[in-house]
Amino acid sequence: MSEPINRREFIKGVAAIVGGLITTVIGIPTVAYLIDPALKESAKEDWIPVGKLEDMPIGKPAPFSFTRVQVNGWERTATSHAGFILRRSEDPNDLLILNSRCTHLGCTVNWSENDQVYLCPCHDAKFDSQGKVLDGPPPRPLDRYGEFRVTEAGVLEIFYKEG
Ligand code: FES
Repeated sequence: MSEPINRREFIKGVAAIVGGLITTVIGIPTVAYLIDPALKESAKEDWIPVGKLEDMPIGKPAPFSFTRVQVNGWERTATSHAGFILRRSEDPNDLLILNSRCTHLGCTVNWSENDQVYLCPCHDAKFDSQGKVLDGPPPRPLDRYGEFRVTEAGVLEIFYKEG
């Protein structure tokens, strides 16, 4: 014959069960929330909308910019990107999209409408409208965004790939 449990043991048992349930109900979501960022990886490439094509003039570089947020575990890093879109004709595929990051040391170049060149303020480099080096220390032309598309709504998207 089993011994009847006394009141104290019964309360201890119930407290242990209730405590375990509370720990489980609170603990699992908390641990999941804490480790979730470490399990996520940000997209290394993506299509980036940069504006409506009809708003970009033909023959004059139109600036654009966007920001990418990279998630590495709990660390979030925002990086800014910018460039210029040159529509060479009415043809929506006749575009030249340049990265405005100078190929010397990474300063941002600006388009000079008066001189029809991109100027780098850091070491006075000059690039022509096609991104070719005209003057200064840059070792190569401005980088290009080679892949782009125009959506049905007329939005120009460029393909961004990390690195
Ligand atoms: S960073 Fe542009 S010329 Fe040096």
